[in-house]
Amino acid sequence: MKVMAFNGSPRKKKWNTVTLLENVLKGAMSAGAETELVQLYDLSFSGCISCFSCKKLSRKEDGVCAVQDDLTPVLDRVKEADALVIGTPVYYGAESASTRAFMERLLFPYNNYAKDLKHLFPKRINTAMIYTMNLPEEMVEAVGLDSMSGFTKMLMEMHFGACELLLSTDTLQFDDYDKYASAMFDKEAKARRHAEVFPEDCKHAFELGIRMASGE
Ligand SMILES: Cc1cc2nc3c(=O)[nH]c(=O)nc-3n(C[C@H](O)[C@H](O)[C@H](O)COP(=O)(O)O)c2cc1C
Repeated sequence: MKVMAFNGSPRKKKWNTVTLLENVLKGAMSAGAETELVQLYDLSFSGCISCFSCKKLSRKEDGVCAVQDDLTPVLDRVKEADALVIGTPVYYGAESASTRAFMERLLFPYNNYAKDLKHLFPKRINTAMIYTMNLPEEMVEAVGLDSMSGFTKMLMEMHFGACELLLSTDTLQFDDYDKYASAMFDKEAKARRHAEVFPEDCKHAFELGIRMASGE
């Protein structure tokens, strides 16, 4: 059982998205899974270039992206994974740019244009999307983040299998709010939330990791 996680935040250590992913992987490891964390911002890669090699009738294999870059070996390893967990900060109401580029390359080769809608990924696996965001929970619906994340969940389910969503809201953005132009935020409330609610989100991430590793 191998659980692969992908960090779509450029902040690769200690910040919100990667901390939640690390908790997912700890949970998965506690349930006996082998794990891998891929830092998308360590890799040089593009999104889909619309070459349609993956749709050619003469293609030798399903689910292969013809673009050759740092993502190529990662996408090869995805073929062996039993669960996929993608973490991303919300940037302007969507996944971060690297996460979007990664998902285009991950999904499109398995996107079947045939009539019977057969899944091209060889097996059904568990997946999860983790979103971290500055916005408070009560704003999620008002700005459409529930439908944005719901659409991505639907895509993951179409291509791979059941997809859980974990949304971590009202995250801490800076170590020291006094050092940045940030008057619109209540720094005490942010610190309190980080101390009291974020650990709960981490606990949910750990439990999610156990479920990912269950393979059920
Ligand atoms: C370029 C940029 C755009 C952002 N856009 C949004 C946004 O649209 N909605 C939101 O709630 N937070 C937004 N944020 C805040 C981040 O989503 C939030 O701080 C997140 O938890 C950062 O994750 P990290 O700590 O793992 O890097 C944005 C941050 C940046 C840098």
